[in-house]
Amino acid sequence: MENRTTISIPLAELAEGHMVSRSVDGREIMVCRTKGGVFAVDDICSHAYARLSEGRLRGFRAICPLHGAAFDVRTGAVLGAPATRPIECFAVTCDATHATVTVTDSRAIPQSPPAMP
Ligand code: FES
Repeated sequence: MENRTTISIPLAELAEGHMVSRSVDGREIMVCRTKGGVFAVDDICSHAYARLSEGRLRGFRAICPLHGAAFDVRTGAVLGAPATRPIECFAVTCDATHATVTVTDSRAIPQSPPAMP
């Protein structure tokens, strides 16, 4: 079974070009606001352990503070070494005052095994 949790962040706390970190069910999520909207991805770099929210945001590019890997916050794709694995993205919806992030834990263990053919 897949676990879903939503978090709501006031847009007033999320100025354009800034990132915030939130802990959701033991998982660190980075939420950022760009000219193109609000995006949410894993906060922990896929290369080693560093918080992307403590790095820099340049357009849609989040740059890790430890070794400089870059990720596209729209897709989680790696844009720059040394990271080679993408980071996970999460759905974001916005209203006039808040961004709501839906965090789906794809690491959840299925409650029952899949049916055999
Ligand atoms: S920990 Fe992010 S690039 Fe190494």
